[in-house]
Amino acid sequence: MNKSIITDWQPEYAKIFSKQSLLLHHRLKETGLFERDYLAGLIERCPESNYNINTMGYDPENPTWREGTKTGMSGHDVIDAIERGRMWLNLRQLEKVDPDFDRLLTDIFEEFEGYVPEFETFKRKLGILISSPLVQVFYHADVPGQSLWQVEGEKRVYVYPNEAPFLEQKSIEGIILGLQEEEIPYERYFDDHAEVYDLKPGEMVHWPLNCPHRVENKDCLNISVTTEHWTGELRKMYAVNYANGVLRRKFGMNGLAQNTSGPGFYAKAGLAVAWRGLKLDQGEKIIRKVDFRVDPTSETGMSDIESYAKHG
Ligand SMILES: [Fe+2]
Repeated sequence: MNKSIITDWQPEYAKIFSKQSLLLHHRLKETGLFERDYLAGLIERCPESNYNINTMGYDPENPTWREGTKTGMSGHDVIDAIERGRMWLNLRQLEKVDPDFDRLLTDIFEEFEGYVPEFETFKRKLGILISSPLVQVFYHADVPGQSLWQVEGEKRVYVYPNEAPFLEQKSIEGIILGLQEEEIPYERYFDDHAEVYDLKPGEMVHWPLNCPHRVENKDCLNISVTTEHWTGELRKMYAVNYANGVLRRKFGMNGLAQNTSGPGFYAKAGLAVAWRGLKLDQGEKIIRKVDFRVDPTSETGMSDIESYAKHG
């Protein structure tokens, strides 16, 4: 894009970027990459390994998810079924599927790196979320740096502090070790301490690392973008949490520090690399079962199928 993607950046935001939640305005819609025809084609091109389609329960304190498939459906039929039903389609790593999204992802991070001194990113990813009216995503925390961009529809996004009791150290360790889903314990009173955004088309929000969040769609189809990234500091946090997770689970240790400097840190970074290299925690990972398919002929846009395991 010739024009900037963010339309309302202020110089002082550089000082709070990734330290506080920040709501910004953007021009993603102007790329033309989010028109229905383009999205429908993208859905059809997206391989099985690059998407998840889910449906979920209703109680935010009792998260239940089901995994589905869209195999054989046209992209337009998938979007129509989502618009009528209760589903959440996550097209992941689109920079690997479509060169235009690869370019967009590069443009986005080059722009932020231009705005924020010492913000240097790698392993960047871009996904699109197409989701039904009134669905929710349960309380969870993500491992890399995250932003959520709204393109169409409206959703309420709750962002919580990235520390106990909202995020226990052992929860983020479990997510990093791949031993638990991103979902973590949630209680209703957490909402009193959340930052709440009613995210409208043309708005995006970026929050500090690992901040738990949950999402409730308003009564309309939602098209959103997620971007994620790593920095040197994020990689260090990952190594510390990984090592702490191993020390806690395999060696029964507690009171583990989260420093990212000093001799303790370097020992932990070494442990994280060694443990991963040996793949000592293999065999405990989560395997999801696919038990519904997108079905444009059904009133709910989906129908049950005999379940099978989805790896990865
Ligand atoms: Fe998330």
